[in-house]
Amino acid sequence: MTPIGTNRPTRVVIIGTGAVGSTTAYTLFLRERVSELVLIDANHEKALGEALDMNHGLPFTGGVKLWAGDYSDCKDADIIVIAAGSNQRPGETRIDLLKRNTAIFDDIIQNIVKYNNHGIILVASNPVDILSYVSYKKSGFPVNRVIGSGTLLDSARFRYLIGQSKQINPRSIHAHIIGEHGDSELPLWSIANVAGIGLEFTDEEREDIFNRTKNAAYEIINAKGSTSYAIALALDRIIVSILQNQGSVLNVSTLLQDYCGVSDVYLGVPCIVDRTGVRKVLDLKLDDGELKQFHESANKLKEIIAELV
Ligand code: LAC
Repeated sequence: MTPIGTNRPTRVVIIGTGAVGSTTAYTLFLRERVSELVLIDANHEKALGEALDMNHGLPFTGGVKLWAGDYSDCKDADIIVIAAGSNQRPGETRIDLLKRNTAIFDDIIQNIVKYNNHGIILVASNPVDILSYVSYKKSGFPVNRVIGSGTLLDSARFRYLIGQSKQINPRSIHAHIIGEHGDSELPLWSIANVAGIGLEFTDEEREDIFNRTKNAAYEIINAKGSTSYAIALALDRIIVSILQNQGSVLNVSTLLQDYCGVSDVYLGVPCIVDRTGVRKVLDLKLDDGELKQFHESANKLKEIIAELV
């Protein structure tokens, strides 16, 4: 695939070939989203193994050029996905990962900017909102080109669970989780709809659906050790909207300024995503309860960021 309007091959670099990074690579590889896919890992052997294992499948798939590389391969990257760092252990919150992953990010961002100052940084590592903020601050990239996966995955889980409850295909459900990709995220029941028709929920439905949405990662981590498939598909969705200049509305994490009274923090909100990255943040009309929760989510992360800098 070549970026719209050019004949240059598209390149995505994935830093970190753990469960999320390698599954994202496989998703992009299988769906032939890019011309070139480069895997980077502190454990180069791991990146080599993932690349070899996928390349052996090339006779069955098609034309992605994939290799285990190093930071010099970031030079021609359109998108650099950061999926490196520690994952949550059973019972650990995403915030608990902060200390371990902030140090790793210092090194990663320094290496990226040595070779690339034009691409888009897409952060998946947790705590994703804070690490996206750190990446923005340390990279010097414009805010539109530093994006976190945000609450896109949470919104997908929310849509899936609403679909299960209402027996409706989740693709037909428009419903948003915003705020922190984590324990302080919040559901926008007031605008959940199917074909523009508002959805009604009992209190029990709301409690069950939201709790299962918010706690999904803990449930999966307890069962299989980490999450990978749905986050990989969420990252694929963001990458396609960028590379194909789609302008899709996706709940990615971006830096908010005077947004519903919130500033100077990365949070998941509906954004128009195209080849410039986050082209526009869409204004939401939150009810009083939603606004209160949104501010609580923002304040939680701002307090943590204040301790970082
Ligand atoms: C999850 C990880 C990606 O929610 O935070 O599955």
